[in-house]
Amino acid sequence: MATHIALVTGANRGLGLEIARQLAQRGIHVVLTARSEEKGQAAAAQLQAAGWEVSFQQLDVTQPESIQRAVDTVYAQFGRVDILVNNAAILLGYTTPGLQFPVATIRELMEVNTYGPLLLCQAVIPLMQQHNYGRIVNISSRAGQLASMGAASLGYRMSKAALNVVTRVLAAEVQGYNILINSMSPGHIRTDMGGPHAPRSPEQGADTAVWLATLPDGGPSGQFFFEREPIPW
Ligand SMILES: NC(=O)c1ccc[n+]([C@@H]2O[C@H](COP(=O)([O-])OP(=O)(O)OC[C@H]3O[C@@H](n4cnc5c(N)ncnc54)[C@H](OP(=O)(O)O)[C@@H]3O)[C@@H](O)[C@H]2O)c1
Repeated sequence: MATHIALVTGANRGLGLEIARQLAQRGIHVVLTARSEEKGQAAAAQLQAAGWEVSFQQLDVTQPESIQRAVDTVYAQFGRVDILVNNAAILLGYTTPGLQFPVATIRELMEVNTYGPLLLCQAVIPLMQQHNYGRIVNISSRAGQLASMGAASLGYRMSKAALNVVTRVLAAEVQGYNILINSMSPGHIRTDMGGPHAPRSPEQGADTAVWLATLPDGGPSGQFFFEREPIPW
């Protein structure tokens, strides 16, 4: 019987599926979530077939009622949520110059990449506070790094920079509860989003996420990581 319960968003493919796999391999019960019931069930079945403790929960991060339903169901079943990995995201207008970037597209990006993760944090943190334990990993990107901000991809960059704000503000607010909240970049990885020629594997990208999801008490919080090392915002 697993002692920790982890909820991973957008886990039917790509990095999310790999993070779910690596957490399950460590004996954690993974609630694999996806917006598509069919794709999510199939991904969960793949991990269950390997003998790991994985269950499926439908969750569309743009739908507040879907988020609440998923968190309520997990809480009713397990009485806790120990780990949240905010992985689900979309990438739109990657090469579009900021001067022409449609605000409607920015709104779409913010809904999935920023507001969804925030709503999930708001739903699970009170449950984590009850147990004085929580680990939250916000999958961000160096595209959202202000220190190296450059041209194009305005909407995606804004959504990930704003996700980093969520990390810092909430990490500061939960001090004293043993809840560690960090952002990380997986690097450029071979997924549908990263493309087949990306230099890194999903396994390499997942390593830091799993490390942050299983940090010991007293570990870092409110920081931005790449390859297990802190990087500038
Ligand atoms: N790939 C890279 O090189 C790279 C680089 C830096 C950061 N990242 C970050 O790493 C994370 C994972 O990316 P990836 O490369 O694995 O991308 P991916 O292959 O495109 O997978 C994205 C996942 O997010 C899900 N998703 C999209 N909208 C959703 C919604 N409204 N509700 C729930 N799930 C939703 C997708 O589900 P569907 O299958 O239903 O579409 C899919 O499972 C993202 O946060 C991304 O920004 C990736």
